[in-house]
Amino acid sequence: MRCMTEKRKKLPPVVMAVIIQSVALPLCITVYTVWLANLSNPPPVYVLFLMQALFASLCAYLIHEEFWWVYIHLTFPLIAGLLMLLNIPSNVYLAAFMVSTGLFWTTFITRVPFYPSKPVIWNQVAAIVPNNKKIRMIDIGSGLGDLVFKVSELRPECEISGIEIAPIPWLISYLRKFFNRSRATVRLGNYHHLDFSKYDVIFAYLSPAAMTALWTKAQAEMNEQSLLVSHAFEIANVQPSMTIQESQSTSQTYVYAIKR
Ligand SMILES: C[S@@+](CC[C@H](N)C(=O)[O-])C[C@H]1O[C@@H](n2cnc3c(N)ncnc32)[C@H](O)[C@@H]1O
Repeated sequence: MRCMTEKRKKLPPVVMAVIIQSVALPLCITVYTVWLANLSNPPPVYVLFLMQALFASLCAYLIHEEFWWVYIHLTFPLIAGLLMLLNIPSNVYLAAFMVSTGLFWTTFITRVPFYPSKPVIWNQVAAIVPNNKKIRMIDIGSGLGDLVFKVSELRPECEISGIEIAPIPWLISYLRKFFNRSRATVRLGNYHHLDFSKYDVIFAYLSPAAMTALWTKAQAEMNEQSLLVSHAFEIANVQPSMTIQESQSTSQTYVYAIKR
């Protein structure tokens, strides 16, 4: 049983989500069929979607999925049912699928979705970058490149770059770099394969799921006194050297100075 739980924990969350919805579906169809057989009037079709939502979220709850997955399983079938009622042409779904694949296709492995940071954070990071030497800074997961371009503009003496794993945000950032003639560079790739020792400042705006592995890599590779800056997500059980919060409406930024 313990072994099964450990195996389950290793499955990517999206695979678990498909399994849970697939387990809920036959349960739901069985109840619906019994109901149909025993009632003179068939229940409206939205009941099917409601049952799917309830069974799937119950399964997620019973196997101790993280709480947000319980809500995702609850809302997903309801949204799917609603969209079916709207009779949206199938090519709209295809277009939406292709755009979301380009934006989020790696999220099921990295568990870090794309969402851009706010301009206040770009200025904040530019101010954190030390000004006593020519600094090399990288945004690991640079999205559309906003932070990279702004910091490069504000700190022209520094070498600023970004690395992004999802193709659509990277392509947009690449075109922006080209048209804006920015000195910053943006490349397509996975930051896990970077050598962190080449950077004085590493900026991350990722997700709680990425932080422990990021800290292990930073500790192993980053040089003494270099900075790991994480916006919104702190590293569990590690005391930051500094925290910054511009206002109540923005998340904190955590600055970790590497010590040997
Ligand atoms: C929350 S967004 C932040 C975007 C950008 N840094 C900003 O501040 O606007 C996180 C980004 O990290 C990217 N990402 C996640 N894991 C990655 C990895 N292993 N290597 C490179 N990029 C990654 C995601 O695709 C996403 O675009």
